[in-house]
Amino acid sequence: IDLDSFITGLPKAELHLHIEGSLEPELMFELARRNGIEIPYASVEEVRAAYAFSNLQDFLDIYYAGADVLRTQQDFRDLAAAYFDRVAADGVVHAEIMFDPQTHTDRGIPFADVIEGLLSGMAGAEARHGITSKLILSFLRHLSEEAAFETLEMAEPWLDRIAAVGLDSSEVGHPPVKFAQVFEAARAKGLKITAHAGEEGPPEYVYQALDLLHVDRIDHGNRSLEDPVLVDRLADMGMTLTVCPLSNLKLCVVGDLADHPIDRMLALGLRATVNSDDPAYFGGYIGDNFRAVAEARGLDIEEIVTLARNSFTGSFLSSEAIAAHL
Ligand code: ADE
Ligand code: ZN
Repeated sequence: IDLDSFITGLPKAELHLHIEGSLEPELMFELARRNGIEIPYASVEEVRAAYAFSNLQDFLDIYYAGADVLRTQQDFRDLAAAYFDRVAADGVVHAEIMFDPQTHTDRGIPFADVIEGLLSGMAGAEARHGITSKLILSFLRHLSEEAAFETLEMAEPWLDRIAAVGLDSSEVGHPPVKFAQVFEAARAKGLKITAHAGEEGPPEYVYQALDLLHVDRIDHGNRSLEDPVLVDRLADMGMTLTVCPLSNLKLCVVGDLADHPIDRMLALGLRATVNSDDPAYFGGYIGDNFRAVAEARGLDIEEIVTLARNSFTGSFLSSEAIAAHL
């Protein structure tokens, strides 16, 4: 059996996936047509050609524009269904997916349509593929903490179907401390906590995510490696990092996949995982991320198995469910 087939067949969980980032150009065109929306591209090829980014903000501008075709509950259901149908072929058995409600509610889309569509897509995935999933509500950090509080309030009727809150969008200039109170409120409601930190932001933002947001997981975390004291702390506490190799490459967090730190993270005792972030924009789903980084870094079977096991250990599943996957 070759390494690619081994990776595909290995049961894995995806812990860092923005569902809006799984919007493939083909579905973008279909939804634009269905909803009678003009999009500034003539073809699927032209859309893909526009996906060249030199940093996070470059990408975010295009990602938020793309999300404009998502209008109805059915659109959100179709979006989620397409993601799960795709990753069923990648050996994904569990996924914890993020959504950005503010991207939609700020355009006048009812929160109920967004979340009910996604929940319906998730239920369909369990029925069709046996894939379990959880939902993570992510706050946009370029907006205010007050806006995040309003979003948390909107989510109140669905809190039993939301596993965690997250923090994403433009990192530099929007440190975790800006959201300390809303994360405290979310934690008081029994929600788990995750936050993007150390993707473009400095190690200080990772410290803030730990000390002020009391995160259960760190999304990305790459720049933690600049601070050996922080690395030891993350390793000692068994903090999961949801690392996204192809995203790191496309957003220039690393210059070359051959320099990706995934195996260095493991060697340092960090609980690293491999994820896709925004697969429609970064050129690959979770299987592609495993295969690309395994080849670029020459990962061995043991490292690959550790990364897959970490995805369950680092999940928000119950300890019984985690044990059943290991
Ligand atoms: N939103 C979607 N993908 C993101 C990323 N990689 N970083 C921050 N915000 C995001
Ligand atoms: Zn992300």
